[in-house]
Amino acid sequence: MDNIVTGTMAIIGSGYMGGGIAQVFALAGTTVLVADVSADIARQGRARLLRDADDFVRAGIFPPDAVALLEEHVVAADSLEAAVADADFVEEAVPEDFALKRETLRRVGAAARGDAIIATNTSAIAITDLASAVPGPERFLGVHFMNPAPFIPGVEVIVHPRTDPATLAATQTLLARAGKVPVAIKDTTGFVVNRLQYALFSEAARVLAEGVATAQDIDNLVRSSFGFRLALFGPFAIADMAGLDVYRAAYGSLQSAYPDRFSPPQVLDDLVQAGDLGVKTGAGFFRLDPAQRDQLVAYRDRAYAALGELIRNLGPSPHMTAAAPTDASESGQ
Ligand SMILES: NC(=O)c1ccc[n+]([C@@H]2O[C@H](COP(=O)([O-])OP(=O)(O)OC[C@H]3O[C@@H](n4cnc5c(N)ncnc54)[C@H](O)[C@@H]3O)[C@@H](O)[C@H]2O)c1
Repeated sequence: MDNIVTGTMAIIGSGYMGGGIAQVFALAGTTVLVADVSADIARQGRARLLRDADDFVRAGIFPPDAVALLEEHVVAADSLEAAVADADFVEEAVPEDFALKRETLRRVGAAARGDAIIATNTSAIAITDLASAVPGPERFLGVHFMNPAPFIPGVEVIVHPRTDPATLAATQTLLARAGKVPVAIKDTTGFVVNRLQYALFSEAARVLAEGVATAQDIDNLVRSSFGFRLALFGPFAIADMAGLDVYRAAYGSLQSAYPDRFSPPQVLDDLVQAGDLGVKTGAGFFRLDPAQRDQLVAYRDRAYAALGELIRNLGPSPHMTAAAPTDASESGQ
């Protein structure tokens, strides 16, 4: 485990996510063995991720020497067992099927060295439910890359009750060295990212179903308003900047209209009652002294201006000019 940062990695499943994860680590100089259902499919997966990398280099979004680095560092293995035999770190990225994942992790655990770390890229299966398939579950954890893996910085690192703290620490170091932002969390269905994403999606789908706005207009509002902020701050920092009393009052209206799903969270009530209203009082979810408050406002304004400029330079996503499905059917397309 000590050698993990420079050591050898195995990725099981050379598909969309496995290929992207292999690119991340190989670009950081790690030797990556990829395995799939057969040696032939693993070779095809390797060839695909090299072709993709070539496209990324041409687009200027991978370094100029990326293809050479990947050719040197990514190896197609003949089998799962061959891939993991000498690996320091194994990432499982097979399809999201509970029985398949358990069987794959059992095979990985049986064939890997006793000190190898074993991780799963599952989107939503509880890590605790997979841990019992791994011989030596203290070396097992979730390492959930987001799509597209080469370009999204954040990675959820999910521990189950028996994960060894040394396993977590080594995994975080490995991810940070590869340029990722690892965030450790406890095991919960949907983890943090998907619980929050799906909560937003559920409400967006309700707004759409009620005919309040079109899908395009909802998306446009989200990306240009609070979604714009979310590129820089999380929900607690944003609430602190808005004012927790403002949030508390808004919850009153939302609760009257939608009592089935909106009520003020206890933590919000407690902070408001204590007079901790966020940035304006110096304390809310975060405590900032006056100098930090000034720095925050300056940072926020600079960051929003820079982000606005970046988005203007990139131009709109094709979604913003795409025809809605109803428009296409009306025009007979
Ligand atoms: N696609 C996403 O946006 C995304 C994002 C985050 C996490 N995930 C998760 O990552 C995992 C992989 O998803 P994906 O989108 O890369 O799927 P994918 O279908 O593109 O790739 C899966 C790969 O696993 C291989 N495979 C199947 N059975 C295998 C076996 N027994 N041994 C070895 N390889 C085997 C397949 O041949 C395929 O190449 C899933 O758990 C998924 O939920 C996906």
